[in-house]
Amino acid sequence: MDVYCIVVVKHDKSSDQLALLSIKNDITEDPLGILSSWNDKNDSLHFCEWRGVTCSRSPRRRRVMMLDLSSQGLVGSISPHIGNLSFLMELNLQNNSLHGEIPQQIGRLSRLTRLGLSNNSLEGEIPQNISGCSNLIHLNISRNNLVGRIPNELGYLPHLQVIQLKNNHLSGEIPTSLGNLSSLTFLSFWNNNLEGRIPNTLGQLTTLKLLSLISNRLSGIVPPSLYNISSLEAISVAYNLLHGNIPFDIGFTLPNLEHFSVGFNNFTGTVPSSFSNLSKLEILQLVGNNLVGSVPSNLGNLKSLQVLQLGANKLGSGQANDLDFLDSLTNCTKLRFLIISNNSFGGVLPSSIANLTTNLDILDFSMNQIYGSIPPGIQNLLGLTRLHLAFNQLTGSIPPGIGLLQNLGVLGLQINKITGSIPASFVFAKIRLALQQTKW
Ligand SMILES: *[C@@H]1O[C@H](CO)[C@@H](O)[C@H](O)[C@H]1NC(C)=O
Ligand SMILES: *[C@@H]1O[C@H](CO)[C@@H](O)[C@H](O)[C@H]1NC(C)=O
Ligand SMILES: *[C@@H]1O[C@H](CO)[C@@H](O)[C@H](O)[C@H]1NC(C)=O
Ligand SMILES: *[C@@H]1O[C@H](CO)[C@@H](O)[C@H](O)[C@H]1NC(C)=O
Ligand SMILES: *[C@@H]1O[C@H](CO)[C@@H](O)[C@H](O)[C@H]1NC(C)=O
Ligand SMILES: *[C@@H]1O[C@H](CO)[C@@H](O)[C@H](O)[C@H]1NC(C)=O
Ligand SMILES: *[C@@H]1O[C@H](CO)[C@@H](O)[C@H](O)[C@H]1NC(C)=O
Ligand SMILES: *[C@@H]1O[C@H](CO)[C@@H](O)[C@H](O)[C@H]1NC(C)=O
Ligand SMILES: *[C@@H]1O[C@H](CO)[C@@H](O)[C@H](O)[C@H]1NC(C)=O
Ligand SMILES: *[C@@H]1O[C@H](CO)[C@@H](O)[C@H](O)[C@H]1NC(C)=O
Ligand SMILES: *[C@@H]1O[C@H](CO)[C@@H](O)[C@H](O)[C@H]1NC(C)=O
Ligand SMILES: *[C@@H]1O[C@H](CO)[C@@H](O)[C@H](O)[C@H]1NC(C)=O
Repeated sequence: MDVYCIVVVKHDKSSDQLALLSIKNDITEDPLGILSSWNDKNDSLHFCEWRGVTCSRSPRRRRVMMLDLSSQGLVGSISPHIGNLSFLMELNLQNNSLHGEIPQQIGRLSRLTRLGLSNNSLEGEIPQNISGCSNLIHLNISRNNLVGRIPNELGYLPHLQVIQLKNNHLSGEIPTSLGNLSSLTFLSFWNNNLEGRIPNTLGQLTTLKLLSLISNRLSGIVPPSLYNISSLEAISVAYNLLHGNIPFDIGFTLPNLEHFSVGFNNFTGTVPSSFSNLSKLEILQLVGNNLVGSVPSNLGNLKSLQVLQLGANKLGSGQANDLDFLDSLTNCTKLRFLIISNNSFGGVLPSSIANLTTNLDILDFSMNQIYGSIPPGIQNLLGLTRLHLAFNQLTGSIPPGIGLLQNLGVLGLQINKITGSIPASFVFAKIRLALQQTKW
């Protein structure tokens, strides 16, 4: 008979326990007392039972697998000894007030799959050593004060699915190596200081669903290869220095698109009529570019459309049929924002606007060349909170029905040629009225 002798080597303190105590040591404030159980003087409570700590189940080798100290109001810094928790798979320190740098030792956590450090006050650069976290799937470091470049090394973490770096001060170019991340679904650099071009290699990300590059200083064109990623649900590149056309066939190559937002760049060319094939499109935001031509009259196919933001372009040509596309929008029953201000739309307001959805919240036609009278049927749009018609060439009188729109808070009619008096119905309304006329 074999006799097995199980030798339990009882170190005074395991390396995990020492690492946890070092982590605690760098926390200066713990208002909710989550670390009060982390106490080496109390041997009756194994460190695996300390709050926020989850260990592997194996009774012989109990090692820390998860550390979750999120939303605890913790103040302090991240101890470099965190790199000693060599079995750690998930680290969640998000939504605290941690400052200082992300320690290079994080790169020793080769089993780490999830790293959540968002909403702290972390400074310095993203450590290059993060390349050691070769099993990382989910990286969320949004809302910190990180500076410097996005390390190329991120592109060598083959399992990455989510990269969330929004609301930092990252600068330099987007690394081309990110095109290697064949499982990436979510990439957000929203609100940083990134510059240079969007790398062509991002077109290789064939599983990408969301690309958010809003509010940076990116220039050049959006690489055509990006418009070939049929999995894309959201492209948001507003507030950059991009130029180029919107591809005419976008509606055929990106069938899953829900959100297309390129506002406040310098896109030129026309609004492709293939947009009408994007049956899942909810947000079409093209404001603040240099787009010309007419608006396609088939956008009524977009049954999910909620936001149509075409303001501040050069759309329309002062012609009578410029607003014909509005007829088709009566089929967009989820439309909330319809904004076409500051363009060159001519023509009269079609009576069909009476048949737009009552879900409409904001209707903004201001700063165009629209003439004729305001259709009385506008009183059907019961959901309206803002109606902007200022800076046009409207004539006639104010339809009394507008005064009955219970939700209307702002009515902008100034700089038109409207005549007559303010309808009596307006005494019931809570409308802030802007009326100054060129000729009253
Ligand atoms: C963590 O590991 C490093 C390198 O092995 C060692 O120098 C350090 O003392 C360890 N820290 C703790 C708290 O055990
Ligand atoms: C030690 O931990 C146990 C279990 O949480 C607790 O009941 C006890 O009060 C602790 N003792 C000290 C000295 O902290
Ligand atoms: C963030 O933490 C604060 C407490 O510091 C808490 O009130 C808030 O709900 C947390 N937010 C999230 C999104 O968890
Ligand atoms: C950086 O990560 C490597 C593993 O990739 C590790 O060997 C090294 O100790 C780390 N550097 C520091 C300063 O921890
Ligand atoms: C990143 O963390 C924040 C919490 O601070 C959370 O609200 C957000 O959903 C996370 N983002 C991703 C992509 O997981
Ligand atoms: C970020 O933290 C602040 C203050 O700690 C809190 O008020 C805010 O809700 C948090 N935001 C998110 C997205 O977690
Ligand atoms: C990653 O991308 C870079 C630049 O695009 C390339 O040079 C490199 O060979 C790629 N590495 C791997 C491991 O795919
Ligand atoms: C997009 O895909 C089509 C068909 O697969 C291919 O012919 C075209 O070259 C691709 N365009 C780019 C810019 O990758
Ligand atoms: C926008 O593009 C047009 C046409 O290419 C060009 O004339 C203009 O200078 C650009 N504007 C800016 C602000 O870059
Ligand atoms: C685009 O939509 C139209 C009308 O719904 C349809 O006839 C056409 O087949 C669609 N084209 C593609 C390429 O999906
Ligand atoms: C609205 O959609 C229906 C079918 O869904 C279509 O027959 C009709 O022509 C559309 N109306 C407009 C104004 O586009
Ligand atoms: C509004 O829709 C109704 C029913 O579909 C239709 O009879 C009417 O002609 C439309 N009104 C306008 C002004 O288009």
